[in-house]
Amino acid sequence: MRRPLVAGNWKMHGTRASVAELVAGLAGLELPESVEAAVIPSFLFTEYVVANLGKRFVVGAQDCAIQSAQGALTGEVASTQLSDVGCSLVLIGHSERRSIIGESDEILAQKFSAALDAGLVPVLCVGESLAQREAGKTLSVIDEQLGSMIAQVGIEAFARAVIAYEPVWAIGTGLTASPQQAQDVHAAIRSRLAGESAEIAQGIRILYGGSVKAANAAELFGMPDIDGGLVGGASLNADEFGAICRAAGS
Ligand code: 13P
Repeated sequence: MRRPLVAGNWKMHGTRASVAELVAGLAGLELPESVEAAVIPSFLFTEYVVANLGKRFVVGAQDCAIQSAQGALTGEVASTQLSDVGCSLVLIGHSERRSIIGESDEILAQKFSAALDAGLVPVLCVGESLAQREAGKTLSVIDEQLGSMIAQVGIEAFARAVIAYEPVWAIGTGLTASPQQAQDVHAAIRSRLAGESAEIAQGIRILYGGSVKAANAAELFGMPDIDGGLVGGASLNADEFGAICRAAGS
C-alpha cells in the first residue's frame, strides 16, 4: 500500500508576514494520519517552517546544488545543508527550472544523486508541454525524461524517490489534466519503471501536479496510479490545502 503524499510547492512566494499567516493556518489544520503532508517553502523560510510545522509536516526544498557537500559554489544550497536544517525532500527538475533556468538532464541527475547522498527524498518532476501533447508526444517525452534519469543514476536510486507528473500546460493555468489523462500517464510511468524493477515500480509514489485544488483533488486521487499531489497555487491557502490533503485520505 502506497501512503499518499500531498506536497505544497510555495514556489517564489512569501514574505515574512504572509508566511507567518500561512504557517499559523496550516498549524491549525486537522489532517488525516493516512496522508503524508509536505510543505516546500523558499529556502529563506525553511528554518522557520521546520521550527513551526516540522512536527506535523514534512518540509522540503525546491532545488539543491549539484553536489551534496558544502563548498565554493556561490548562490547554491547543498543537500547536506538542507538536511541539517530539517528538510527531508527536494524537488528535482520542476518544469520552471527545466525551461526557465535551463537545467539539463545531466544537471538534474547530479542533483538527484546529491539529494540521495544527503538522505533527502528526490521528487523528480516530469511533464510535457502543450505543443508536445498536441503532437501526440506526451508519452515519449515522459519516457525520455525518465529514461535519461534512470540511465544516469540507476533504477535502484528510485527506491527512495518520488515522481511528480506535471503537464506543463496545466501548471498555474487553471487547466487540469482530466483524471483519465493523468492516470494514463501515471500508468505509463509505472510500467516504464516496472520494465527495470517490478518492486520499485510498485512501491514508488507518483504525484500529479497542475492546477490541483480542493474541487478536483478527490477525483484525481481516486485513480489507481495517482498517489497524491504536488500543489502550487492552492497550497498558499491553508484551508484549501487542508481540503486537498483530506481528499487524499478519503
Ligand atoms: P499549480 O498548482 O499552481 O498549477 O502549480 C503546480 C506546480 O507546478 C507544483 O509544483
